[in-house]
Amino acid sequence: MTLLKPAIGDGPNSTYGMIGSSPAMRKVYEQISKVAPLDVTVLITGETGTGKQLVADAIVEKSPRKNPYIIVNCTAIPKDLLEAELFGYKKGAFTGAVADRKGKFKAANLGILLLDEIGDMDLSLQSKILRAVEYGKISPLGHEYEESVNVRVITTTNRDLKLRVREGKFREDLFYRLNIFSIEAPSLRERPEDIQLLIDHFVKFYSKEFGRYIKISPDIIKKLTNHKWKGNVRELESLIKRVIISEGVPQSNISELPTLNEDYFEELLDTSLNIKLIDNIPLKMLKETLKETLKEIRRDLVVKALRESRGNKSKAARMIGMSRKIIPYYIEKYNIRPEEF
Ligand SMILES: Nc1ncnc2c1ncn2[C@@H]1O[C@H](COP(=O)(O)OP(=O)(O)OP(=O)(O)O)[C@@H](O)[C@H]1O
Ligand SMILES: [Mg+2]
Repeated sequence: MTLLKPAIGDGPNSTYGMIGSSPAMRKVYEQISKVAPLDVTVLITGETGTGKQLVADAIVEKSPRKNPYIIVNCTAIPKDLLEAELFGYKKGAFTGAVADRKGKFKAANLGILLLDEIGDMDLSLQSKILRAVEYGKISPLGHEYEESVNVRVITTTNRDLKLRVREGKFREDLFYRLNIFSIEAPSLRERPEDIQLLIDHFVKFYSKEFGRYIKISPDIIKKLTNHKWKGNVRELESLIKRVIISEGVPQSNISELPTLNEDYFEELLDTSLNIKLIDNIPLKMLKETLKETLKEIRRDLVVKALRESRGNKSKAARMIGMSRKIIPYYIEKYNIRPEEF
């Protein structure tokens, strides 16, 4: 539930906007510089939260065809709508198609289309994707002829695509076509030496963002380094963000920076979990996580509404279906600062 993504460019500890100097990350940077200037498809693999989106963004940034850059999340859109979304349609192609609509392939013409989480795409759509990638041909729904597009396609997946191919859920020809060049975003387990750098970065970033400061002791850093991060960088980032929001002190009290004790982190680590592991989590712990997550969502929702209503509390309340009185209450409760909206 990060509202503002860390705006991290190249710096002493970051390359292509990514933090990490481990051999595993250095390999990723090398692969990015090798493939970005070439006009080829790239498949980015890796577990959830490992930074696949950042790798894609870096390739786009270093590619000669940066614009337009269109992203489609293949899991977020229901199968039937995804075809229309990607390839577009002609007026009257189906009930509700009241006007022609350009699809994302066409919108990305001369630029880059990122198909996020392609591993989940329905088999029936995959042949159309293959034709678009292989020959640059698309057929909008209800259109009699194919149209040509010139698009560089980048894909990501957290699935084992080879396994999907073996299971008959992913077309083998499409897999080979997409896998011309692949980059694996490494899990945090494969690069524990980067954890301290990431912690330092997120502490700095979110302290600035929220105007709240904490100190993390070497013992805790050691504990966090040894922790098995199932949600990878996203899980670590969200933990640091939560700690800063709930335990940070204002800069004016900088001499009293709270150093958090081990038990506190132990508890947080227990509750910061990968949602996919729900089956193995005791109910009590799930309840706590849910409470924490809902709090975060509610805060983000209120900030977003305030931002979109330019700070108008009545309008913000209306936008999210809450009563006018509740907004000042949440501003106070969640320590929402005027700079955030
Ligand atoms: N190397 C890194 N340095 C700094 N921040 C990172 C790094 N890798 C990931 N992040 C941060 O972690 C979060 C998740 O990253 P991202 O969305 O790129 O992961 P993903 O692999 O696409 O995840 P998913 O599979 O869930 O879509 C983002 O907030 C991102 O900024
Ligand atoms: Mg992603």
